[in-house]
Amino acid sequence: MTIRPILIAPDPKLKAVAAEVDKVDGSIRRLIDDMLETMYKADGVGLAAVQIGVAKRVVVMDVDQKDGNRYPRAFVNPTLTWASEETVVHEEGCLSVPDIWEEVKRPARIICDYLDRDGNAQTQEADGMLAVCLQHEIDHLNGKLFIDHLSRLKRSMSLKKLAKAQKLKEG
Ligand code: NI
Repeated sequence: MTIRPILIAPDPKLKAVAAEVDKVDGSIRRLIDDMLETMYKADGVGLAAVQIGVAKRVVVMDVDQKDGNRYPRAFVNPTLTWASEETVVHEEGCLSVPDIWEEVKRPARIICDYLDRDGNAQTQEADGMLAVCLQHEIDHLNGKLFIDHLSRLKRSMSLKKLAKAQKLKEG
C-alpha cells in the first residue's frame, strides 16, 4: 500500500469529472487500498480518487472509526438513486480544502447504488454522517467541492483563507 499525495484546491484536477470503472479488478482494489491508507494517514473520514489525481469513480470512507478501530468502506461507481426532501445542515471539511469548515445543507437521507471491492452490485441506504459523507464524495467525482455549495462570497473567502494558510505552510 502506498500513501499518495492529496491535491489541494484550487488544483484544476479537482474539477475533473471522473470516469466510470468498467471492471473492479486488482488495479482498482490496489487503488482502494492506497486511498484508504492515504485517508487514514491524513485523519480523514472520506476520500475520492480524484483527490489523488485519479479520475475514476472510486470513493473510500470510514465514518465509524474510533479508538484506533477501523471500519473501512469502498464504493465504486456510486450513484444516488433517491434523496429525501428533508434536508440537514452539517459542518463539512475536506482533505483537499484543509482547515476550512463550513455548514452545508444536503438531503438528510439517501439511497446509493454502487459496486463493492469484489465488483458486486450493492445498495446502501444512509442517513446521518454516512449520508453527508457519501454526497460529499460523489460531488468530488463530479468535480465539485463542498465550498461550491456556499455563497460566492463565502466560497471566495474560504479559498483566500486556504491560499493564505498554504503559503504559511510553505513559507
Ligand atoms: Ni472532500
